[in-house]
Amino acid sequence: MHDILFTPVKLGAIELANRIIMAPMTRDRAGPGDVPTDLMVEYYRQRAGAGLIITEGTQPSPEGKGYWRTPGIYTQEQIDGWARVAEAVHAEGGKIVMQLMHVGRVVVPSNRGYEAGIIAPSAIACADEVPGPDGVPVACDTPRAMTQEDIFRVTEEFVAAARNARAAGIDGVELHCASGYLVNQFLNSASNQRNDAFGGPPEQRVAFAELLLGRMADAIGANRVGVRISPGNPYNGMDPADPEPLFSALLQAADNVGNARTGEGLAYAHVIDMALTDLDTLAMVRSNWSGPIIANNNLKPESGSALLAEKRADAISFGRAFIANPDLPARIRSEAPLAKPDYAHLYTGDDKGYTDYPTL
Ligand SMILES: Cc1cc2nc3c(=O)[nH]c(=O)nc-3n(C[C@H](O)[C@H](O)[C@H](O)COP(=O)(O)O)c2cc1C
Repeated sequence: MHDILFTPVKLGAIELANRIIMAPMTRDRAGPGDVPTDLMVEYYRQRAGAGLIITEGTQPSPEGKGYWRTPGIYTQEQIDGWARVAEAVHAEGGKIVMQLMHVGRVVVPSNRGYEAGIIAPSAIACADEVPGPDGVPVACDTPRAMTQEDIFRVTEEFVAAARNARAAGIDGVELHCASGYLVNQFLNSASNQRNDAFGGPPEQRVAFAELLLGRMADAIGANRVGVRISPGNPYNGMDPADPEPLFSALLQAADNVGNARTGEGLAYAHVIDMALTDLDTLAMVRSNWSGPIIANNNLKPESGSALLAEKRADAISFGRAFIANPDLPARIRSEAPLAKPDYAHLYTGDDKGYTDYPTL
């Protein structure tokens, strides 16, 4: 069943055996030093039947961490940990891209386990609360507005992170521009009230994302860099109104980043289709972007197959379905029933509700 999901596809330089992608999911299982653990190796190995795994959001620097036990990619120990993950996924025939996630102002300091700054485009606190180490939501502090020096420093942290991911054997990186984290904070006028070249109209609010994508493309190749967006997402204090001008500008800039460098675009655009407005998000992306599209959000095998058949997307990502179904592609193939996630153990830190879901 759903044969179209089981056809190969190329996302930039990355060749996928099928079009079923595991969406990035934070699971709070990193060890001391924010190093990937053996448990994480096992978790990702179990899910390597996906055409592509996109890792949980991974911080490029200490400042990029806001949640509890999220992994990093800026120390040698972290690189070595991710190398074990990549090796395990590749040994099973899978592919793996790392999501680079900098939280910006969305920080609970006690989640970090060390002192580091809280930075954002403007000194405006996130109105949403964030879970602390015990899971209880905490109000966010007011961030420090980034100077232009900060912008270039953070850009170089992303470049180093992308190089580190490749050094670990990871196939590429995805820039997290969604869900109200740092890059999204630059994109959105509710969090970006800068008066310089990185603020103002949509064409300038996309400048930080464009800079990051361009510098990472220079470092590891445009065809190994993807971008994730969630137009119209109100999460973490984003103003969801009128996403079209902003995301058209972002996608055109992102398209240009790859094509101008190599004649070949970035690897993919990964689109969380919030479906909260009248905007046909996937059509908007298609008309502003020449590369492959991964569609996400609330999709089922049927609706995902339909998007592929209609050529509205080139691959489909599933988040929650991969939590409880490590062998999701095999289950979709055989139309087996899907297990339900154990939501109480999403972030609890051990194997329960993480690596203990059986295969068929
Ligand atoms: C436990 C959990 C953690 C998540 N963490 C991330 C993350 O680190 N980065 C990200 O871009 N999205 C994250 N998401 C969003 C998912 O990637 C996906 O967009 C969302 O679950 C909707 O897809 P689904 O309907 O197939 O689950 C997370 C979702 C869940 C359920």
